[in-house]
Amino acid sequence: MQTTVILLISTLLLIVIQKTLEFRRAERDINGHPGFRLLLPNLGPLGHIFKKPIPYVTRGGFASWRRKYADFAEYGVDIVSSIAIFPNVSTSFSVADPGAIKEITTHRLRFPKPVKDYRVLAFFGRNIVASEFDEWKRFRKITAPAFSERNNKLVWDETVRIMQDLFDNVWGAQSAIEVDHAVEVTLPIALFVIGVAGFGRRISWKDDLVVPAGHQMAFKDALHVVSTDVFVKLLVPGWMLNMGLTKRMRSVKTAFDELESYMLEMIRARKTAEKKVERHDLLSSLLDASEEEEGGVKLTDQELLGNIFIFLVAGHETTAHTLCFTFGLLALYQDEQEKLYQHIKSVIPDGRIPTYAEMDLFTYSMAVFYETLRLFPPVISVPKYAAEDTTLVTKNAAGENVVVPVPRGTALSFSSCMF
Ligand code: HEM
Repeated sequence: MQTTVILLISTLLLIVIQKTLEFRRAERDINGHPGFRLLLPNLGPLGHIFKKPIPYVTRGGFASWRRKYADFAEYGVDIVSSIAIFPNVSTSFSVADPGAIKEITTHRLRFPKPVKDYRVLAFFGRNIVASEFDEWKRFRKITAPAFSERNNKLVWDETVRIMQDLFDNVWGAQSAIEVDHAVEVTLPIALFVIGVAGFGRRISWKDDLVVPAGHQMAFKDALHVVSTDVFVKLLVPGWMLNMGLTKRMRSVKTAFDELESYMLEMIRARKTAEKKVERHDLLSSLLDASEEEEGGVKLTDQELLGNIFIFLVAGHETTAHTLCFTFGLLALYQDEQEKLYQHIKSVIPDGRIPTYAEMDLFTYSMAVFYETLRLFPPVISVPKYAAEDTTLVTKNAAGENVVVPVPRGTALSFSSCMF
């Protein structure tokens, strides 16, 4: 018994000594740059267990969202370090300095994205978000042209159609509309736009719920469940989803299977169509790009699925929540709402539907969106890491340059909450 206790104490002592030495080294490696010294690292989604920060233990869940610029202001510098002791002593930096962010984003080889953290997003196939280096360059080269002027025009025209459908056929002649939460309106708007601009499939507010032969779920529902419950797919292991333990898990499993089968059907239909229709949705543009290369395809069907799916994930909630915050802020600041309304009226005094060519005239609308994105960015931080020993430069509260040593392997995330 006594021996066991002695062994236990000695082991604990050894761990404490080892952690202390490693911690000191980590501090030395970053020149003691100011920041958090914690027992636990950023726990990702699991961090939400800790609703609030616990000093010297954890920053708590949603730290970047809750704290916005506050940590940078408190430490008096726009790059804040964090050294966590468990499970391994690890250093990371949060970066709010625009110059340093530019340095990180323009030097992808020195500051790549941690691809392993994105692996879960590749279940439909390899894609632009879950890749880096040569593979990312290849996806970027093929996918970038899809975001063309013609696709922008499609987004504009279809958004007008979706809104008219809402006003005429859903809200009708009612004098006032009440919704519990603005996302109830903005999520479907964004989803319907992605449906047509991404997949070339029109979806409307009222119909599209008929399940076609050979399917178990309507396209609209599959798109909706996949898009809003993607985190269930990310967090729940595949075997558990397959077992379908809860109603939600069953619905997620069916939706993912169904969306894949709809996408494959669309790809097949477009590849085998006798008469090629000129389309500017992202899926068609990617398909065209895949077929252009002589002597081989540029994207396999699986990569095509992976990329089109990632456009859905990247584009749906980001735009829906930006719209939602915009409505919320306009409701809170009604004088700004009035200015926006008057500006729109000055651009189209006769109240007709504006065309895509007139988009640039809506400068005030654009300013309102930019201000919303500044205050409530839907993507609050973007992860990267240092591929080599390097430095970043920022300024302290006194306006003096501070050179921050960034050892190889250090995790970095740049913050988009700048106020
Ligand atoms: C308000 C709306 C949006 C916001 C705030 C937003 C934000 C972001 C951010 C912060 C990144 C990471 C950039 C980086 O890693 O350097 C990103 C990447 C990306 N976004 Fe968006 N996004 C929005 C809308 C969209 C839409 C509508 C689509 C597609 C339909 C889209 C597709 C993508 C893709 C494909 C990437 C990866 C690009 C690459 O790695 O080259 N996003 N977005």
